[in-house]
Amino acid sequence: MGTKIFKRDQLHDAVELLRAGQLVAFPTETVYGLGALATNETAVKSVYAAKGRPSDNPLIVTVSDEAMMRRFVKEIPARAQKLIDHFWPGPLTLLLLAKPGALPAAVTGGLPTAAFRCPDDSLTHDLIADLGDPIVGPSANTSTKPSPTTAQHVYHDLHGKIAGIVDNGPTEIGLESTIIDLSVEQPIVLRPGKITPEELSEVLGEPVLINAGTKATKGVPKAPGMKYRHYAPSAPVQIVDEPTDFAKINLDEHTGVAASKAILQKIGAKHGFDLGPDLIAADHNLFNALRYFDDQPEIKRIFVQGYHTGENSMAYMNRLGKAAAGHHFKAE
Ligand code: TXA
Ligand code: MG
Repeated sequence: MGTKIFKRDQLHDAVELLRAGQLVAFPTETVYGLGALATNETAVKSVYAAKGRPSDNPLIVTVSDEAMMRRFVKEIPARAQKLIDHFWPGPLTLLLLAKPGALPAAVTGGLPTAAFRCPDDSLTHDLIADLGDPIVGPSANTSTKPSPTTAQHVYHDLHGKIAGIVDNGPTEIGLESTIIDLSVEQPIVLRPGKITPEELSEVLGEPVLINAGTKATKGVPKAPGMKYRHYAPSAPVQIVDEPTDFAKINLDEHTGVAASKAILQKIGAKHGFDLGPDLIAADHNLFNALRYFDDQPEIKRIFVQGYHTGENSMAYMNRLGKAAAGHHFKAE
């Protein structure tokens, strides 16, 4: 299958493919998603196959607006309404009780809930609005690999397996959306993202719990995807917590370093990737950096700058922690 690249003036071709049950990747402000018509069970199943994704890991339902979501939920609780009014379109996914039978089991993994997201991307908004139905939207990477932040990343992982990619350039944020569970007694963040628990709590006017999804609830992880190995390049990754520790790394021709330019220049890294000067830049560049080194077979070890700036760095450290399987660099 040839994988076509669609720009703004070819959006309608992408809509036709989705309508016919084909897979088309789409841009968002976080990462690229892999789209399939959410109401078409066969199309949804082929998303799992293309990504190599375990079938018990449910998919986000991507909508163009609140009205579209309304068709698939039991009700919109007051808390959800507050968050929608404040954060949509934007990088916040809401877990709500689904309307029974409204979505194929392949979307929800058979759970009573569904995850809804309304991305802040004009092309994707128009794509879904034109289609008139939601699309599922897992990140458009091969399962376990870092999420794609450019159309080229999607092409790298999935060309030949999907019909097309809508290209709107590099994504702005670079890390996936915050997921908040509103189907339970107390709101709980299942996956940290750009929107912090503190911001959510401020808008809701009540405390928000945090469960980054690694802990199981009665044996069932709340966001099933969080239990899998993720974001991982083939070479082992270590987190470098202190900028001064970079000088203690034994640099050789097999060592990749992702850090700010200032750090890279100071240590004279042979294989360096500039993460940018601050956390916002590092969020934007992290997955790109991991992919950059993953494409170089001679790189056998990767060191990545850690950030410790409270809730703002929670999403970055969550993704980096998974890429590194929790390994932090310790100077000898
Ligand atoms: O920013 C994003 O959210 C991106 C863009 C493309 O929209 N999408 C994304 O999808 O990150 P994905 O599939 O890579 O991650 C979605 C997470 C998974 O961990 C999945 O287990 C969880 O959401 N999830 C989806 N539906 C769920 C449900 N009904 N209950 C619990 N967790 C759910
Ligand atoms: Mg993903």
